[in-house]
Amino acid sequence: MLTQTTLATTLARFKIIPVIQINRVEQAPALARALVDNGLPVAEVTFRSEGAADAIRLMKQACPKLCIGAGTILNGAQAEAALAAGAEFMVAPGLNPTTVKACRSLGVPFIPGINNPSQVEQALELELSLLKFFPAEASGGINMVKSLLAPYQQISLMPTGGLTLENAGDYLTLPRVICCGGTWLTPTRLVDDGAMDLIGQNVRQVVARFAIDARA
Ligand code: 3PG
Repeated sequence: MLTQTTLATTLARFKIIPVIQINRVEQAPALARALVDNGLPVAEVTFRSEGAADAIRLMKQACPKLCIGAGTILNGAQAEAALAAGAEFMVAPGLNPTTVKACRSLGVPFIPGINNPSQVEQALELELSLLKFFPAEASGGINMVKSLLAPYQQISLMPTGGLTLENAGDYLTLPRVICCGGTWLTPTRLVDDGAMDLIGQNVRQVVARFAIDARA
């Protein structure tokens, strides 16, 4: 089981976290296999579609070694549903202390979203140091990441939002940027269409480009 402490080490091994919206749950098992079989056994499945919890359950059944997080977790009820479905960590676009507390009482690690110093300090007060820098590109990109990392030596960041195959590498060279998230390798259109061959190609490209060695 992942804890708040082991989560950072685990996500650092993956380097790139595919953020996925699954509208058609029947695509979930094949999608899980496309990630695992091509060398990136991790997914953040967003709670932006009705079937998110079912999709997580089906992905975990198809590939038990796939590390699955639930994204866009906005309240305790969603965290509970995601955990029951098999999600091992929770991610949110923002920092909501109520959701932080709910995840803590469920015993599941949580990565809140931040994009300024005050939010970093709020996170630190809540004893959270692994943070999603979101929306990364729109919030100042690499320069803002450097500006946040300098005064706050105890934080690690997962930049997400506007990242691509081209710019993710620049973020990953920064110390304490442990991984990057993004939808670019699993775009909703390809997931909806069941285009797992194209998704597999994207995954292989990412694995090769960032020398990812994280076999399930
Ligand atoms: C998220 O939920 O993390 C973002 O929607 C991902 O942003 P992207 O689509 O720009 O990668």
